[in-house]
Order: sequence, then structure tokens, then C-alpha cells
Amino acid sequence: MHPTARSRLFVLTKEFHSKRSLSSRELIERDDKFGGRHFKPLPVVLTRGEGVHVWDVEGKRYLDFLAGFATVNQGHCHPRLVKVMKEQAGKLAHTSRAFYSEPHGALGEYLTKLLGWDRFLPMNTGVEAGDTAIKVARRWGYRIKKIPKNEATVVFAKNNFCGRSIAALSASTDPNCYTDFGPYVPRFDKVPYNDLNALEQKFRQDPTICAFMVEPIQGEAGVVIPNDGYLKGVRDLCTKYNVLWIADEVQTGLCRTGKRLAVDHENQRPDILILGKALSGGMYPVSGILADSQIMLCLETGSHGSTFGGSPLGNRVALEAVKVLEEENLAENARELGEIVRRELERLPKEIATEFRGRGLLAGLVINKDFAEGWDICLKLKEAGLLTRPAHGQILRISPPLTITKEQLEEGLDILTTVLKSYK
Ligand SMILES: Cc1ncc(COP(=O)(O)O)c(C=O)c1O
Repeated sequence: MHPTARSRLFVLTKEFHSKRSLSSRELIERDDKFGGRHFKPLPVVLTRGEGVHVWDVEGKRYLDFLAGFATVNQGHCHPRLVKVMKEQAGKLAHTSRAFYSEPHGALGEYLTKLLGWDRFLPMNTGVEAGDTAIKVARRWGYRIKKIPKNEATVVFAKNNFCGRSIAALSASTDPNCYTDFGPYVPRFDKVPYNDLNALEQKFRQDPTICAFMVEPIQGEAGVVIPNDGYLKGVRDLCTKYNVLWIADEVQTGLCRTGKRLAVDHENQRPDILILGKALSGGMYPVSGILADSQIMLCLETGSHGSTFGGSPLGNRVALEAVKVLEEENLAENARELGEIVRRELERLPKEIATEFRGRGLLAGLVINKDFAEGWDICLKLKEAGLLTRPAHGQILRISPPLTITKEQLEEGLDILTTVLKSYK
């Protein structure tokens, strides 16, 4: 080792060994000094989680009404997930897809049989699964639909959130997401959300469209729920114009909205389904797409891959995570408790909250801008023992773990309404 490198390591090792435990303030300062500044966390440093609760480094307990952006559907550190995680980590964590491993097929079989598509292709994060869906759709466009070379167009709904890759931000209509990251991916088109006429017009005008990618409920946009019949309309138009329907259920999928999938609210079946977040209950990044063989097999050997996607560890924990959702009836719990959230929050005066939007335990409360900033309310909630964040400044997210009990939910709603009513 070079002498400078050795002395740097010596100093660092000494420094880290002598570290006393740091306070929240010191930990936040350290983060701000050494990390990127692309995200602004709420000023709380969490160290432990169990079920619907999390604790900060000073030992204060909070109710978690965010659940890692609707990821920890199974609750923090679910004992079944911790158990399989430990077992699999101690047995075989990673192989890459250079070889077969038992959990890969097990997850594929379970998910395809449960959800009703032929095949499952695992990736890691939601955005990668979205990129994968776009790649599959373009391949299908050239090979099956016979779109001329390099002309395949993908249409997205405006105000979507697909993640942060170059493809995802090229699909975005949010300047915070795309500004100064160009040039963007070509032949990505956009239509207004919840507008079947605009969609049909687009499909009619453009024969190069291979896919329409849309969230059944726009989560990051602030829980925007389309009119009843929109999803059926999307299905019908995609079938009529020979366009693949890609449903991005990274946030809405896996019981969050009170059904296994959000498309189940209208009994519709997209051609490609994207899952992420709750697929592993937050234990490990696991995402993926489901599709039938004719579509999925457009990606033949060598055309796609990921070092970590489909790892034994990720797939084993994902299998258990989905079983937990099913065996603990968490869709049903989300549906029932979502009604309590609606009942309580719709009652708030318009001076405080102009609108409530929700389905199951995916809800957004629009705070009146004249009343308060969403961020300031979240700071007060934190003081009162409840954690969440606003979407787009003013929309308080209400997406607790789906394991939450009626009593815990009522306690959280009580904190929320008390803080709101006593804010001024
Ligand atoms: C609908 C939707 N798609 C994709 C993503 C991106 O997922 P990830 O952050 O895991 O890449 C998100 C994240 O919030 C999402 O809500």
C-alpha cells in the first residue's frame, strides 16, 4: 500500500474506533457534509423499526405513516422476513444469473400462478423494472407489431412518476425531475392522465406506438385516482390499436390499495405489469415485470440483465414478503382501514385541507396553502410522534404499513387531526 494511503487508513481506523455514539443533530450534520444534497430528509434519524413503529437514536418512538414511500407494507422487520433473510444470507446470497438458484424459479412460479401471467423477470428497483418494460415493449413493437426500425414510440400519462433513470425522466412532465438532464430519450410521447379521448386520438394518429405506460393511481403525483372506467377504457383502446398496456404498479401493487393490484378494482389485465417496493417489504431491492410468453420472450438471451436482479437473497425474501401479504389478508386490512382514514379526514374543514384522496391505505390529504406548508405540518407531526412527508409540497401522504391495527390507525389519525386543528 502507498504510504499516504496507509497513513490515511490508520487515521480513519482510529477515528472510527474512538467514535462515541452521535446525537441526531451530529448525525444529520455528518450526512449533510459527506452526502449528496439531492434529497431533503425530515430531520429525524431512525435506528430501529418494528411493525408500524420506528425509533430515533434518542429512543423516541414514532408511528410510521409513510412506510418508506409505501414499501414496508408488511411492517418493519416482519419476523418472517427477518428469518428468511438471515437464513438465505447465511446460505447463499448472490450468484448472479450466470447460474441457476432455487429461489429464482420459486418466486417466478409463485408470482405467475398468483397473479396470472406466464412469466416473471426480476430486477432490483422500480425504475429498472420500468426500463425493462419499455425495452420489452420496444422489442415487441419491432418484432411482432412490425414498427419500422428505430421508430417505436412509447406513450406515457402526464404527471407520472416512473423513477429517476434517463428513461424515466424523459417520460416525466415534472421539471424537478427532468430539467438539465437532457438530451432525453426520443419517441416518448405524453397524454393527459384520465383522458380516454386524448389517448384514442394519439393511438389513431400514430401507428408507431408500441406501448402506453400508466399508473392505475398516480401515487407520487399526490394519489390521483382516475374516473371509474378509465382502466377498462385503457385496456379496450390498447387492444383495439394493438398497443401494449404497461401498468406501473410499483407503488399501488401488492395490497396497498385494498386489492392485490390496483387494476383489480376494475378487473382489468395489462399486458405488462411492473412491481417493486412492497415486493420485498423493504428488506432488499426487488422489482420485476410480469408478462405472457409472447411478449416477455422478445428479450432473448443476452439482450437484458442485471448483476443483482434475481439474486437468491432478493428472490427468497420477495417470495416470503408476498406470502405474508396474502396469508395475513393485508389487502382486506388496507380496504377496511382505508375507509376509516377517509371518514376521519374528509371531515376536516376546507380551510385546513382542501381535498382528501385515497384508496385503501394509499391516501393523500391536500393541505390548504393558505393554512400551512405541508413540510411545516410534517415537522409538527414529527414532534407529536407521527412520521410522514408531503408530495408536491402540500399533499400529506398517508401510507402506513398494511399490518397496522384499527387502534394504531386511530391513534395516528388522532395525532394528525389534533396537530392540524391546533396548528395556528
Ligand atoms: C409508480 C412508480 N414507479 C416507479 C417508481 C420508482 O421506483 P424506485 O424508486 O424503486 O426506482 C416509483 C417510486 O416511487 C413509483 O411510485
